Amino acid sequence: MTSTTAAARESLPMQAQYDLLRRYVEVRTQTLKLAEPLSPEDQMVQSMPEASPTKWHLAHTTWFFETFILASHMRDYVPFDASYKFLFNSYYKQLGRHPDRAIRSVFSRPELYEILRYRNHVDSCMQKLFEDEVPAELLQMLELGLNHEQQHQELIVTDIKHAFWTNPLRPNYQPAQIKAFDSLIEPLSWIAFEEDVHEVGHDGYSFAFDNELPRHRTYIKSFRLASRLVTNAEYLEFMDDGGYMRPELWLSDAWDHINANGWTAPLYWEHEDDAWYVFTSRGRLPLNPNEPVCHVSFYEADAYARWAGARLPTEFEWEVAASTVKIRGNLLENEAFHPCPAHADTNLQQIFGDVWEWTASPYVAYPGYRPSAGPVGEYNGKFMCNQMVLRGGSCATPASHLRATYRNFFPPQARWQFSGIRLADDNT
Ligand SMILES: [Fe+2]
Repeated sequence: MTSTTAAARESLPMQAQYDLLRRYVEVRTQTLKLAEPLSPEDQMVQSMPEASPTKWHLAHTTWFFETFILASHMRDYVPFDASYKFLFNSYYKQLGRHPDRAIRSVFSRPELYEILRYRNHVDSCMQKLFEDEVPAELLQMLELGLNHEQQHQELIVTDIKHAFWTNPLRPNYQPAQIKAFDSLIEPLSWIAFEEDVHEVGHDGYSFAFDNELPRHRTYIKSFRLASRLVTNAEYLEFMDDGGYMRPELWLSDAWDHINANGWTAPLYWEHEDDAWYVFTSRGRLPLNPNEPVCHVSFYEADAYARWAGARLPTEFEWEVAASTVKIRGNLLENEAFHPCPAHADTNLQQIFGDVWEWTASPYVAYPGYRPSAGPVGEYNGKFMCNQMVLRGGSCATPASHLRATYRNFFPPQARWQFSGIRLADDNT
């Protein structure tokens, strides 16, 4: 589950436990802040099976702490409502049955008011439990629960964006103004990396998900990585060159998928009166040519890279490059909830934030990977099939949630996350 070593945890002073508890309050408050602009009706909408209602996210993140910490470790803990154990279980089969994820929008009961009371109940019990020193395993579970909730914070933003896109009225999630951006960006350049045997994966001295472990060595041939993300203007060139109509550019599954679904542009793009518009968290805006292209699937990212005479980076090429870059950028705390044009402040721009970057790597276990024992072992490992790895975080990812070794994963056709493209190339 987490990588923090037992030895390191044994010497953890109470101050560190209090710090973690303070972080608990911050994370839980941030989740409520994201739900603040939404009415109870908004918080019930589920516009597709892959997305969940905000209300469900509020309840399920609470369920995680209740199930994996309070129910098993707090003496005399009384559940807020016994039916929630089933109702807000997402996919943990070892805990018993759970509702089909496609019907989460029918949960008009419990009402939002009850879910907020549920959150308060669990929060006060958590405060009580962590007042006194607890075993190291419990702190690890707390850290996992916080990171789990941060993952759902990002999903709140992306799921409500899709819900509002589906609503014919196209409401705004956030107020309409957007932060000013520079209108000019640097031409794309290439950063070269020499061949070598590199250490990849997490070193185990702080929190990481189990799928980032174990750290291991891997050979990487010399390669080049693009200095910034692919822009809307560059993606439009691909479209204008018949990108979506040329089978030679697409993988077989991809070609079938774009034709079966009538895809001719990224998600949220609309063409009207000879101009392109894009639906954002702040309503519909004219397409900014300098912003990174966003809401593309792996299929589209791969086809674009082929058209551009390049390829997508492997997840390890990306990690080696990112390990030299500070974690900063257009992240959740910026409250833009939309990718911004690149700033030429570093050689490698936009590595963290803006959009998750599709890699050429399938989501599989690292050599020696072992999922945690028990139900929580279902967190990551059982999804290691038919998904691709994305790296770097997005404009909806909290800064404290990210690291260079972080592996996100989605099916190749998914595009409702803030996902985009960075090119790579062989350095021959
Ligand atoms: Fe979850």
